[in-house]
Amino acid sequence: MFEYEPLHVDFGARIRGVDLAAPLSDDEIVELRHAIDQYSVLHFPEQAMSDEAQLALTEQLGEPEENHVLFGRTGEVQFLGTIGNVVDAETKRDELHPQTLSQKGNNLWHSDSSFRQVPSYVSILHAYEVPGEGGETEFVSQRAAYERLADDIKAEIDALHVLHDYVFSRTKVAPVHDNHAASLPPIEHKLVRTNPNTGAKNFYVGSHARSIIGWSGIESRRLIDQLNEAATIPEGVYSHRFSEGDTIFWDNRCVLHRGAGYDANRWRRYMRQTRVRGAGPTLAER
Ligand SMILES: [Fe+2]
Repeated sequence: MFEYEPLHVDFGARIRGVDLAAPLSDDEIVELRHAIDQYSVLHFPEQAMSDEAQLALTEQLGEPEENHVLFGRTGEVQFLGTIGNVVDAETKRDELHPQTLSQKGNNLWHSDSSFRQVPSYVSILHAYEVPGEGGETEFVSQRAAYERLADDIKAEIDALHVLHDYVFSRTKVAPVHDNHAASLPPIEHKLVRTNPNTGAKNFYVGSHARSIIGWSGIESRRLIDQLNEAATIPEGVYSHRFSEGDTIFWDNRCVLHRGAGYDANRWRRYMRQTRVRGAGPTLAER
């Protein structure tokens, strides 16, 4: 059975007692799903991961989600993506490399794939090489933030729909290839989502959230900015400093995250990420 240790008062658990690189038993899958529903961010230290094992782990939780950057540009399907600047044992990409600049979009608070019709359920990130300074990933719970809202605001936002748009958010930091942009039209989602297993509610914004359906731009931005600020208050942040061998899960249905940044000229960073596709469009959720 898993051993739990809290990460933050709002959410998160450090979990020992399981080898994620080996196939999980049915009981372990049930417990892992339960832990995701309950804690939102899971840290498994000292995992002997490999790409093959990470993909197998991802498939045990559902359908892997293809990397949208490569797929959008070329149509090629790839499930493992590199986070960081490492090319191979000798080569890394420096600060001004286009790929390093594009990854800086990950330093804005976001939920992975919130711009897709079927957004991601969880992301799984494994650390192979970590910078000596910087490179943390920060997390906040939009569920804890929702609970802190006044009742009149909860009532106001309950039935609203929000447009998420990758091109809107990413072009703030780097250009988006035309093929890639054309593959990701803005998508309408529920603003308030409900966990299907626990009934817990959260709002669903982040940097990809562009506007509220039926509202003016000014009113849309006022509300979305207000919710983003409510979610990302400093005391709500869990900042994860990676060690080699860390595997982290986060629940994209309710968590926002961002990279804290690092000096790509000075350090190597090599992390591999997979994502599990969500159960369906958010508009079909109850
Ligand atoms: Fe991300």
